[in-house]
Amino acid sequence: MAQQTPEQIIEGQRQDWNRVAGGWEKWDRFFDEQMAFLNHRLVADARLRAGMRVLDLGSGTGYPALLDAQTIGSNGSVIGLDLAEQMLSAARRKATALGLANVTFRTDDVTALPFEPNSFDAVTSRFCLMFLPEIPKAAAEILRVLRPGAWLAAAVWSAPDKNPYLMIPITVIKQFLDLPQPDPTAPGIFKLAKPGDLAGMLQQAGFTNLCEEEFIADVRFPSGEEYYASLMDIAAPIQNLFAKLSDQQKAAARGRIVSSVDQYRRADGFALPIAVRMVAARKPL
Ligand SMILES: C[S@@+](CC[C@H](N)C(=O)[O-])C[C@H]1O[C@@H](n2cnc3c(N)ncnc32)[C@H](O)[C@@H]1O
Repeated sequence: MAQQTPEQIIEGQRQDWNRVAGGWEKWDRFFDEQMAFLNHRLVADARLRAGMRVLDLGSGTGYPALLDAQTIGSNGSVIGLDLAEQMLSAARRKATALGLANVTFRTDDVTALPFEPNSFDAVTSRFCLMFLPEIPKAAAEILRVLRPGAWLAAAVWSAPDKNPYLMIPITVIKQFLDLPQPDPTAPGIFKLAKPGDLAGMLQQAGFTNLCEEEFIADVRFPSGEEYYASLMDIAAPIQNLFAKLSDQQKAAARGRIVSSVDQYRRADGFALPIAVRMVAARKPL
């Protein structure tokens, strides 16, 4: 297949995430309970303080933009930016429900930030940067809009073998499909998984004080069925793979995915391992 242009990739991302926005809203409380610790880590790595002006990239349904807004308080402001208007609509509803008047959400592309140089005191981003077609360009844009001395804190997925939570369905689906080797340069869930990938691009762009850590945890589910239903409702790239299966294959794949979770059974449910690469970097003073 011919390589996609950056514009085609961005349009694909927009459509993918708009399509799953309902799923994100449906499972919002569950994923908030399960993954809020990542938002707290980003808030700390970005050194957020009261009164700051913060930009969150690829906010989706509001993570970590909403925690950013709670942290910087009524004298600060947060802009949450994302391609997918329907994800942002959910984020806006949540901001209203939380009574947050200091956060706004706008539809835009991370690789062409519509802001003046030196406009933000911090930038956060959770699970977005690996989906960009031109990550070095985004790194340069983030550097441009940050004030000197300000921090970027980003979370991206680490290696596939340390993320059974994501890899169980991918491995099962591949048992049914004769897929070509994935293009290692193409954006995707594990594009920034290797140590130094994102940190290297940020350093190249001019960031200093690079900090990187692989942060391991697990996501808890009451049942294999709940694991399957929640992940398949929100994970647009995995949905795209699943859509390639026939109806019969889908039914068989579902059974295999649910039973694969058995190996992660604990006394109180199922604990699916995840590994997240946490990267922080500072714009030089
Ligand atoms: C996996 S979701 C993560 C959402 C949220 N940050 C979270 O952790 O719950 C990835 C988000 O990145 C957004 N995204 C992908 N490419 C983008 C781009 N070029 N510009 C802005 N947002 C983008 C998608 O629309 C999607 O909402």
